[in-house]
Amino acid sequence: MNAPADPRFLSFLNRVDGAIAAHVDEAALVDQIEPALRLLVAQDLWLPEAFARQDAARYQQYLLYLDPQARYSVQSFVWAPGQGTPIHNHTVWGLVGVLRGAEICREYSHDGVLKSGNTHRLTCGEVDRVSPTIGDWHAVSNAQADAVSMSIHIYGGDIGRIERQMWDEAAGALKPFVSGYSNGRPWVSAR
Ligand code: FE2
Repeated sequence: MNAPADPRFLSFLNRVDGAIAAHVDEAALVDQIEPALRLLVAQDLWLPEAFARQDAARYQQYLLYLDPQARYSVQSFVWAPGQGTPIHNHTVWGLVGVLRGAEICREYSHDGVLKSGNTHRLTCGEVDRVSPTIGDWHAVSNAQADAVSMSIHIYGGDIGRIERQMWDEAAGALKPFVSGYSNGRPWVSAR
């Protein structure tokens, strides 16, 4: 049985529901969600250990909550030392808030050709944005060589089931992928 939902997380979901119910445009929606995510990642010890567990084989992406209409979903990402994503896109708006440690984000643009851009470091408590309208391509990795890093993500859809694209290093080409989730049942499934 899943651990009971923490009131801090439920409060975050309530704020997101309120922002989505307002039917504002994407930029205004993300503007409203960002402070709620900042508040959530400014605190620790609210996430059960089952959704913060590292895996030596690959980075983990645990589904914490899926909106019943799949208008948004929330995940915890766990990076062991040395772990990172391939270059990928999202196809929907998204926000990333670092809960523990730090992440390196390498940005890319894609207008027929994939081009590398800036690299920035996102440290504990900071929030980043992605979306097809503001820049949707990046590769993310753990900035810490000797410790786990973790971030909380929210996307404008059921991101684990959306077909998107990633750079296949071996093939030297983009390929479609569906990320899935590392867990079965989400942390919070009914409210
Ligand atoms: Fe990403």
